[in-house]
Amino acid sequence: MAERAADRWREAASKWLLPQSIIDAAPEPQATLDPEMFRYKPDLDATMPVRPSRRAALAALPEGGSVLDVGCGGGASSFGLRSRAGFIIGVDRQPDMLLVFEETAQQFGVKVRTFLGAWPDVAEVVPVADVAVCHHAFYAAEDLEAHVRALTDHARERVVLEMSAHPPLVALNPLLEKLHGTSRRDWPVADLAQEVVTELGYAVQREDVELEPRPREVTPDWVGFVRRRLYVGPEADPVIEEFLRSQTPQPQQVVALWWPGTA
Ligand SMILES: C[S@@+](CC[C@H](N)C(=O)[O-])C[C@H]1O[C@@H](n2cnc3c(N)ncnc32)[C@H](O)[C@@H]1O
Repeated sequence: MAERAADRWREAASKWLLPQSIIDAAPEPQATLDPEMFRYKPDLDATMPVRPSRRAALAALPEGGSVLDVGCGGGASSFGLRSRAGFIIGVDRQPDMLLVFEETAQQFGVKVRTFLGAWPDVAEVVPVADVAVCHHAFYAAEDLEAHVRALTDHARERVVLEMSAHPPLVALNPLLEKLHGTSRRDWPVADLAQEVVTELGYAVQREDVELEPRPREVTPDWVGFVRRRLYVGPEADPVIEEFLRSQTPQPQQVVALWWPGTA
C-alpha cells in the first residue's frame, strides 16, 4: 500500500472509474451530467436539515462576502449561502451547468460570475473569495492534492468540502456486474480525503451527518439517467427498472471537511 495518502487516493479513484473500453463503446453520449438534476431547489432545500457544510461556510463568511463554488453544477452547493453572500463565483467544466447556475442566480437576484473549465487547470484565472466550497465534485480527481491546494490558495477565510462517505454509483454494482461483468471499487472517500488534507499540513475539521433515505419514484428520466451512467442502450431499461424498483432507499452518509484558507 502506498505510504502517501495522496497516492492512495489516486489509486482508489482510478479503481472506482470504469474501463475506458466500456465508456468508448457507450451507445449514448455519457460524458456529461444532466444539469436539471443539479438545479438548486429552494423548496426542497427548506425541508432538509442544515448540513454541516453550510454551517461551516456561513460561520466563516463575512456579511456580503464572496463565495467560490468549484464544481458548482446548478448551484445547490452555494445558493443556500445567498442570505450572507454578496457575490458567488461558479466554476464548472460543463457549460450547460453554468447556464442553469446563471439562470438561478438571476431568479434569486444573486450577483455571480462564472468560469468554464476543469479545476485546478483554470484556477489561475479565477479570483480569490472569502470562502471556497466544493461539493461532490472531486470523486474522480486523480490529483486531489492539486485540487485542494488550489482551493486553499483561493480562499481568504475557509475551504469547505462536502462529500459522501463512499463514492457515488457503487450501489449500481449489481447492474454493472450483470451488464458488463465488472464493478466500481468502493473506497472510504471521506477518510482518505481527510488524510490528504492533513498530509498537506492544513488544520482540517470534520463533521459527519446521516441524511434520511429519500424515496424516489422510478420515472423514465431516472431510468435514463442510470442507463447513461451504466453506458448501455435503452434495451437494458427493463433490467434497470426492475433493479431500481427492488431497492430500499438507504440513508446517505455525508461528510463536511473544512480548514483555513491561505489567500
Ligand atoms: C455531482 S455534481 C455536484 C454539483 C454541486 N456542487 C452540488 O453539490 O449540487 C458535480 C459537478 O462538478 C463538476 N465537476 C466535476 N469535476 C470538476 C472539475 N475538476 N472542475 C470543474 N468542474 C467539475 C461537474 O461538471 C458537475 O457539474
